[in-house]
Amino acid sequence: MVKTRNAKPPVSETAHRTALQQYRVRADLYDLELQPFEPLRLEAIERLQLQPGEVVLDVGCGTGLSFAHLLERLGDKGKVVGIEQCPEMIDKAQARIDAMGVRQQVVLLQASAEDARWQGLADAAIFHFTHDVVRCPEAIDNVLAHLKPGARVVTTGLQWAAPWAGPVNCFVMGAALYSVSSLEGLNQPWGELARRLQHFERHDTWMGSVYMATGTWPGASDT
Ligand SMILES: C[S@@+](CC[C@H](N)C(=O)[O-])C[C@H]1O[C@@H](n2cnc3c(N)ncnc32)[C@H](O)[C@@H]1O
Repeated sequence: MVKTRNAKPPVSETAHRTALQQYRVRADLYDLELQPFEPLRLEAIERLQLQPGEVVLDVGCGTGLSFAHLLERLGDKGKVVGIEQCPEMIDKAQARIDAMGVRQQVVLLQASAEDARWQGLADAAIFHFTHDVVRCPEAIDNVLAHLKPGARVVTTGLQWAAPWAGPVNCFVMGAALYSVSSLEGLNQPWGELARRLQHFERHDTWMGSVYMATGTWPGASDT
């Protein structure tokens, strides 16, 4: 595991601390809590359209629940780069990698998505339930700068359902207060990515409370 010290203060110290604290206390039970959401993970990973031998960035990888599914599609020549800022979460991810015997294929970066640095360009990136990351322009720009032109990007997460869906939004509120540092942007969490990607397509599921979106990174413009 590679640890990166934050070179500059994170975008918002308070949000950063809140996000760290939330996952410090959740790490032990996280995998259990995520069980009802696992079908969404499989659908998101399917939408990455991974090919054997490719490299994929798992942004905010948490405990590494996506690793086995990603590697299954990438084959033994493919690679996963997991970026995760919470020490307790990334320790679980490291333990998972060790148990799976895939140290050669999974690189873990303990850093915030806005500060993580690594060599090479990836073929795809997944932001699975990472609201704090997809609402942070600096984090998105840093991740996209490490993708090949044409790379596929998939993002999934909570959002406000339609205003008339009151009980559904009670679920969104409860889940969000437990898992994100700010409710800001829950009406269009994908907005920052949509502005930067081509062929951006989104569909809503779970009665509108969860979005799943795909797009293609065109590469940095020269202008
Ligand atoms: C809901 S969990 C999702 C974990 C994983 N993607 C999954 O599908 O199980 C959100 C994760 O994003 C991480 N996170 C939040 N803000 C981050 C940031 N700015 N940089 C890197 N990781 C971040 C949290 O520590 C947490 O592990």
